[in-house]
Amino acid sequence: KRLVVLVSGSGTNLQALLDAIETVGSEAYGAEIVAVGADREGIEGLARAERAGLPTFVCKVKDFGAREEWDAALAEATDAYEPDLIVSAGFMKIVGKEFLARFGGRVVNTHPALLPSFPGAHGVRDALAYGARVTGCTVHFVDDGVDTGPIIAQGVVEILDEDDESALHERIKEVERTLLVDVVGRLARNGYRIEGRKVVIQ
Ligand code: GRF
Repeated sequence: KRLVVLVSGSGTNLQALLDAIETVGSEAYGAEIVAVGADREGIEGLARAERAGLPTFVCKVKDFGAREEWDAALAEATDAYEPDLIVSAGFMKIVGKEFLARFGGRVVNTHPALLPSFPGAHGVRDALAYGARVTGCTVHFVDDGVDTGPIIAQGVVEILDEDDESALHERIKEVERTLLVDVVGRLARNGYRIEGRKVVIQ
């Protein structure tokens, strides 16, 4: 299976996928990353892709007159690589109608909280501020909402009294990277069905 990974930052989830595929081989893993896309230049995620010899593309919202044009351009750029699955790994933009029309049901996102709790761009900070005792990460399919698509897998992380946002996020990311690598491999190898809110991996 062909994966396109979308990033906006450090790309450690991307790196975890790259390392896993490198370790077991794309045949055994069931997928290869064919390109990495981003919404901004100069991020470590793009540097990681370039170090791995992967093609990259950048679609910046401000380069387009309207949000819909950005969305269509992102869809075009992604489509060029003929992906089977798109993995949004720390991609900090909400994809729109055009992108979902083209790839709906094939876009996997990872979120650093236990959805439906704490959706949005500050899930780690919100869980901490709320005084939750556990949080975690969620790997889900993207639908036309924000962090509302069918859940594929979740991992739980304790919140410690001494946690600040970055310490907690780092601990979440350790669980998240393992979860994402496992889920993407299973989706790619086994195939899956989305039945309402349920995801069935064959
Ligand atoms: C991940 O925790 C992701 O869930 C969140 O931002 C982080 C991205 O980390 N949206 P990285 O860019 O993969 O290191």
